[in-house]
Parts: sequence; structure tokens; C-alpha cells
Amino acid sequence: MGWKDRAVSRADLDKAPMDVAAMFDDVAERYDLTNDVLALGQTRRWRTAVLEAVAPKPGERILDLAAGTGTSSVPFSKAGAVVVPTDFSLGMLEVGKRRQPFLPFVAGDGMNLPFRDEAFDAATISFGLRNINDRMAGLRELLRVVRPGGRLVVCEFSSPTWSPFRTVYSEYLMKALPAVARRTSSNPDAYVYLAESIRAWPDQEALAADLVACGWGRVQWRNLSGGIVALHRAVRPDGV
Ligand SMILES: C[S@@+](CC[C@H](N)C(=O)[O-])C[C@H]1O[C@@H](n2cnc3c(N)ncnc32)[C@H](O)[C@@H]1O
Repeated sequence: MGWKDRAVSRADLDKAPMDVAAMFDDVAERYDLTNDVLALGQTRRWRTAVLEAVAPKPGERILDLAAGTGTSSVPFSKAGAVVVPTDFSLGMLEVGKRRQPFLPFVAGDGMNLPFRDEAFDAATISFGLRNINDRMAGLRELLRVVRPGGRLVVCEFSSPTWSPFRTVYSEYLMKALPAVARRTSSNPDAYVYLAESIRAWPDQEALAADLVACGWGRVQWRNLSGGIVALHRAVRPDGV
């Protein structure tokens, strides 16, 4: 019997880590471009909102988990924080290192981070938590590496709050988004996964409940672009 190529082009909703990493390896080169096109120019606004929610002070140590090519980390570096972009797709890290050579990229799995307890003043994760195989394990691991009193900001696709718009958006996700991705991405199938994973993701309130269940305190959220995206922020309580 001959050797078979693994040839994964997209992950399924079981989010097997090898498939997720392979899928992002595959889209790495054109990831940022495709992202900007699909988000209809909203990404810059969302990234500014994440920066404001984390409110880093110069010199603070910030973990940007699932940082991909580091585009989500750049605003923190510009604000004078020591940001550590971490990701498990070597393809995304490679592209990031080429485009953002000043950032200290780290290869690491969000469910088993290569950092000591309480290493960071804050952590953030943009469009990454949805892709982590076990999001609760990821949220607990983030709690471990953030110091007591430190902050977490999760930026993730969510549920539009106005129901007529929710219906239109759902159509956009399942029909227009894969069609647009066919023109911009090297792997359009990955964007079918994107659409499916957004639809299967918990809404704002359910994700807030997950954060509380994982030990995070002072959990709050705010909607961006009518709830297409939500920012959840939380604080690590003393004594956990
Ligand atoms: C949609 S990209 C987001 C990249 C970046 N944060 C941004 O906002 O553009 C999601 C990233 O999550 C990473 N990822 C998924 N599961 C991961 C895990 N368990 N540990 C580390 N990174 C993970 C993928 O490799 C991918 O680079």
C-alpha cells in the first residue's frame, strides 16, 4: 500500500487541533487580505476596540493568544506594551515573522501554554477562541497565565442583536462569504468552516457564563457592529 497525504483543507466542527493548525497553515499567506475583504473593512475598528478594552500601560506584559500573523498584536506593540503573539500554526507564525519581524512570536497551544503561572498582566484573544478544540480548557489556561487582578479580553464573532439583521447575516455567512473567499483565499473551503463555526458559537450571554464557569470575575460584554462581533472582558479574581 502506498503512502497517503494527509491533505486537510478545512477543519470540521470537532476542531481536531491538527486539522485546525493545517487549515491555518494553508491560508496563512493571504489570511490578512481575505480577512479585511470578508469583514467589509470593519477589522480596524474591531482591533481598536480590543486595544481600548485591554487598555495596556506601557511595559505591561500582554499575551495575544491565537495571534496568527500578529496583526492583532501590532496595536499593543505600538501602545508600548510587551506583547507576546502566540499561535500553534507554524505557517501563520512564519508569515507573521516575515511581516512583523519586531514581534516576539511564540509557538504554543492555547490548551497547554508554554508560560509560567501569572506571567502576564493581561491576555487577549481575537477570533481565536472559537477555533480552540476545548474552549473551556483554553479559558482556564488563560486564567493560569494571567496574574490575579489581570485582565482578559476575548474578541469573537457573536450573534447580531436585531433579529431581522440576524437572518440576513446568517444568509451572508452561509452563501456570500464562501463565494467571496473563492476570489481571495488560497483555500475557500476553510471559509465554509468559518461560516459553520460562527453559526455554532455560543451567543454573548452563553460565552459570559463560560468565562464565569472557568473562574473569571467581573465578566462584561459589549457588542460591535450590531453584535456581529462581541468583546468580553473579565478580571482574574484574587485567590483563584
Ligand atoms: C482566525 S485566526 C486569528 C488570528 C489573529 N488573532 C487575528 O485576529 O487576525 C485564528 C488563529 O487561532 C489559532 N489557533 C487555533 N487553535 C489554537 C490553539 N489551540 N492554540 C494556539 N493557536 C490556536 C490558529 O492557528 C489561527 O492562527
